[in-house]
Amino acid sequence: MHIVALKSPDSRDLRSVIHPDTIEKIVSLKGVSVSFESGIGDGINVSDQTFVDLGLRALSRDECLSDGNLIITPSSLSHDEVAKVQQGSTVLGMVNPFYAIEEMKALNNSKINVVSMEFIPRITRAQKMDVLSSQANLAGYAAVLEAAQHLSSALPMMMTAAGTLKPARVFVIGVGVAGLQAIATAKRLGARVEAFDTRDVVEEQVKSLGAKFVKIDLGDTGQTDQGYAKELTPEQIAKQKELQSLVCERSDIVITTAQIFGRPAPKIIDDKTIKKMKPGSVIFDMAVETGGNVEGSIVDEVVDVNGVKLVGVSYLASKVSSHASFALSNNIINWIADFYDEESTKINFDFEDEVIQSSVLAFEGKILNERFA
Ligand code: NAI
Repeated sequence: MHIVALKSPDSRDLRSVIHPDTIEKIVSLKGVSVSFESGIGDGINVSDQTFVDLGLRALSRDECLSDGNLIITPSSLSHDEVAKVQQGSTVLGMVNPFYAIEEMKALNNSKINVVSMEFIPRITRAQKMDVLSSQANLAGYAAVLEAAQHLSSALPMMMTAAGTLKPARVFVIGVGVAGLQAIATAKRLGARVEAFDTRDVVEEQVKSLGAKFVKIDLGDTGQTDQGYAKELTPEQIAKQKELQSLVCERSDIVITTAQIFGRPAPKIIDDKTIKKMKPGSVIFDMAVETGGNVEGSIVDEVVDVNGVKLVGVSYLASKVSSHASFALSNNIINWIADFYDEESTKINFDFEDEVIQSSVLAFEGKILNERFA
């Protein structure tokens, strides 16, 4: 089986789906050869030669598309690229099915199998493949550092001869994987941290990180069996906005991470709240790429509303591209290692397996996930 690794076509995404410290696990598999798109390591300071020395081959993007049996990628393929891929091969990676649905259908129409790493089920056995968690964790860390750079104060309290500097107040909205890491990072930097999530099961986790959980009673909210939040009603969102604005007013940094899997992000901070906040404070919208949590936030821009800065950054995990690539490549390699069969030198698409059932969206010309059929 010839595995080829594609570079991100978006120059803002510095990550690589292969990493020198993780590649050994698949290069050593019987019957596997691995190639990569030349320049794949540019964003993580790894040269083509380093990968060549590890037994991989450097190819052009077109050669990767036409020669690979298993194409690993950090993004979906364009329609033109789909036409270059061999029938019967498999595209595996962060194929972004909710946004690149037509591209996924084009792959399926060409009888190319599609494995979406976004659909790894949230079961213990599959945690090692969970790209959403591995990237969200690093994004949560990066969000705090990015937000801090837009603040004109320091985060920790400092008792100096020139007077006592008050600690910054950070409010994290949405306490999933990214939110928890944002809380932990802001705490490590010495900020006073408060947090809120519609899933009240996270209260204990917030407290265990030394932050304060903000209680807002929205009635029945709940979560899915995969641990994702359920979408709120418009009345619940209105109530959340009203009560949460009191915390926003006293915060120096607000970090929003609220997401609903497969749906646009909920708009939870509106202009009314922004206008009540202190000039100089920062709202960092981690959901900016999926529609945004904050009214008026724009991807990769800093929007000034009466002195309040709205910040949204694309490919946030890519701010720590080496670690993000290490984790991402490990996630992908763990999938391959679990399902590669050394006898047939092919992927064993065992549809009895829960990970295969969930992550394989298209197989042999059929869309398997009813959301996309
Ligand atoms: P996510 O990225 O889908 O959402 C981020 C957070 O936003 C979630 O905590 C969600 O409850 C919250 N949210 C949604 N609407 C909101 C609103 N209106 N206001 C405030 N917050 C709102 O979630 P993520 O981070 O991917 O995971 C959520 C949970 O899934 C984790 O906390 C964890 O319990 C579970 N999980 C389980 C795994 C496993 O068992 N293998 C792996 C990873 C996560």
